[in-house]
Amino acid sequence: MTILVTGGAGFIGSNFIIDWLSNSDEEVINIDKLTYAGNLNNLATLRENKKHIFFRVDIGDSKVCRELINKYKPRAIINFAAESHVDRSIDSPEEFIQTNIIGVLRLLDSANEYWQSLDGKQKKIFRFLHVSTDEVYGSLNADEPAFTETNRYKPNSPYSASKASSDHLVRAYNQTYGLPVLTTNCSNNYGPYQFPEKLIPLFINNALAHKALPIYGDGLQVRDWLYVNDHCSAINAVLERGQIGEVYNIGGMNEKTNLQTIDILCSLLDELCPLKGEVKIKSYRELITYIRDRPGHDRRYAIDCTKIKKELNWEPIENFETGMRKTIEWYISNTKWVEEVTNGQYRKWIERQYA
Ligand code: NAD
Ligand code: TYD
Repeated sequence: MTILVTGGAGFIGSNFIIDWLSNSDEEVINIDKLTYAGNLNNLATLRENKKHIFFRVDIGDSKVCRELINKYKPRAIINFAAESHVDRSIDSPEEFIQTNIIGVLRLLDSANEYWQSLDGKQKKIFRFLHVSTDEVYGSLNADEPAFTETNRYKPNSPYSASKASSDHLVRAYNQTYGLPVLTTNCSNNYGPYQFPEKLIPLFINNALAHKALPIYGDGLQVRDWLYVNDHCSAINAVLERGQIGEVYNIGGMNEKTNLQTIDILCSLLDELCPLKGEVKIKSYRELITYIRDRPGHDRRYAIDCTKIKKELNWEPIENFETGMRKTIEWYISNTKWVEEVTNGQYRKWIERQYA
């Protein structure tokens, strides 16, 4: 059998495919537009693997998506493809609307047309799994309970508003056409192959180059961090055992202020990559700087993942210390990967964003 993954050259999608093919013989069709965030080097370990078949395609290109879906007849489509960086959505929101809303609408249409054409067992087993974010629920005060699946949608950035729209479309395709959908809303991920514009890889990369670690505002914003492989195992659980039409929140039960996160990161860097020689600083902590806050910066995200734990028997394996250690070790041993993604375009973004 076959599954079709969109956005499989990005951070979570590539980890998902690597993990999938190390546990299964089932073929993976990977369609990805290869934006700045998509990188085939993430899948370099699968170069000789005939079970991974890649196509450079936009999910909004209905003609090609339909052809590929009809040709490979997947038993499931897992949609990771998205514009995913909040700061870029503040800078230029239009691409977010194009991919995260119009693209998802067209992909749903292609999937629905295919699903309607199936019969018997194939129709029964088909699933469309949409990977979404906890950011659709908005921001919490310090004393509010964590997000459950029934929280109201209150997105605050163009990114989260576009993801919220896509979640609604996914739900509507189930309610209106019967398409067997599943939706997951996950907290902040970290781990190997994350593009170094997000907090953790940006800070590892900057620290190793002895550059400033730029904290937005007071650094007391709270995020719930989940190691990427734990997110992948949750998606697998939802795909295999989730109830059609249901939403599952996924989180690490690991709320940290950004300052706490950076403190752990700096301690691990001091241990794993001690500063020596000509460098004037004694700890990576000395690189911390405070800069202007992000507009509309969400104060706190927290996920209540009781439902997926109870109903699907899912648990994360890593705690923050073990996950961060693996992540830092990966970035230290993969400097070539980092050099290749931090090209001219990337440098322009960093110069503009942190000017
Ligand atoms: P990413 O930006 O690293 O990867 C996105 C991938 O999608 C890239 O490979 C890109 O080339 C591809 N893509 C973009 N537009 C496309 C289009 N129109 N057609 C086909 N491919 C396209 O993002 P990520 O961090 O891997 O996130 C994957 C998914 O998980 C997203 O839907 C995101 O909203 C969701 N999510 C991410 C996090 C997180 O912390 N990173 C947390 C929760 C949910
Ligand atoms: P980010 O990784 O962009 O994820 P998200 O905005 O989706 O949660 O940011 C995580 C947190 O880190 C968020 O509160 C913003 C903050 N942040 C900084 O303080 N400095 C930075 O340079 C970046 C990229 C993020």
